[in-house]
Amino acid sequence: MEKIRAAITAVHAWVPDYVLNNHEIATMVDTNDEWIQSRTGIKERRILKEAGVGTSKIGVESVNGILKKRGIKAEEIDLLICATTTPDYVFPATANVICDMIGAKNAFGYDVSAACSGFLFSLVTGAKFIESGQYKKVVVVGADKMSAIIDYSDRSTCIIFGDGGGAVLLEPNTEGLGIYDSILKSDGNGRHYLHQKAGGSVKPSSHETVDAREHFVYQEGQTVFKFAVKGMADVSAEIMERNHLKADDIAWLAPHQANKRIIEATAHRMGLSMDKVMLNIQKYGNTTNGTLPLCLWEWENQMKKGDNIILAAFGGGFTWGSIYLKWAY
Ligand SMILES: CC(C)(COP(=O)(O)OP(=O)(O)OC[C@H]1O[C@@H](n2cnc3c(N)ncnc32)[C@H](O)[C@@H]1OP(=O)(O)O)[C@@H](O)C(=O)NCCC(=O)NCCS
Repeated sequence: MEKIRAAITAVHAWVPDYVLNNHEIATMVDTNDEWIQSRTGIKERRILKEAGVGTSKIGVESVNGILKKRGIKAEEIDLLICATTTPDYVFPATANVICDMIGAKNAFGYDVSAACSGFLFSLVTGAKFIESGQYKKVVVVGADKMSAIIDYSDRSTCIIFGDGGGAVLLEPNTEGLGIYDSILKSDGNGRHYLHQKAGGSVKPSSHETVDAREHFVYQEGQTVFKFAVKGMADVSAEIMERNHLKADDIAWLAPHQANKRIIEATAHRMGLSMDKVMLNIQKYGNTTNGTLPLCLWEWENQMKKGDNIILAAFGGGFTWGSIYLKWAY
């Protein structure tokens, strides 16, 4: 019998209505539309403005969408993993909040913290529960309300990030479809270049940390850029090589959307033309854990059963990786 693989059998995503475009950002900090578009590829991003509403909202809307598409009940979910860098609370896990809000009474849930690679890492983790035969329905959410931790007076970070995300359902497949291979990497030394200084146990929140604006994303952009270009391109090329895939064999690359130039460098290294690359950074910016499910959702109707898809990501930590899968529907 063919081995059990974890296949994505539904995808849905959600973004808030409010559009923060480059022109509005230029009224907040010293920048302009031309600079942002040429350096990052971003035209606009979505912002979740509603007070008292956190990342779980993105997860709830996305998971309800996949339940509807697949015609299943929330009670049928065995496990829900939420990849996020902006959890509703420090604890409990946002996954638990989502399970409660959608009525997933039989599921257990937990969060994964791996910055922009969180969805990729969670997809592999969730897949293992399916491949082992232990569970039949695993939901993986990737969602972030980045506006909660962005300093809108810092022009080097506020232009990049946005709010949004999505979710996928993983189910067993014995027809040779689903996840084939993955490469996951991390290097903790990268923490110096991309992190949030305060609010953790090293530097708990205080008046001083708030005054020093330390509850926002801190990034050394150029250093991160260099590591991201190399990291994402390396693992994408490596996963092709070890699965004997040529550029012609690949239907789509779903890359993390951090900077259009990083994506172009990855595609170039893989020998792929940009018309095989999922690119929606212009509309959403970098939604951190949200980018990959947002791509899969937008390209859902263009992917065909059996298509070879490569997912690739790079993020804070540093964390990075790639997945090779065959699309299942
Ligand atoms: C942040 C990023 C867009 C900046 O682009 P860059 O080409 O590296 O720009 P630099 O940081 O070298 O800055 C170049 C100049 O532009 C200026 N600048 C920075 N942000 C600006 C903005 N929004 N508008 C106008 N000028 C800006 C800088 O002050 C600097 O000016 P100087 O030369 O007078 O000092 C880019 O480094 C990047 O995308 N990094 C990776 C981000 C990323 O992927 N993060 C998430 C990882 S998951």
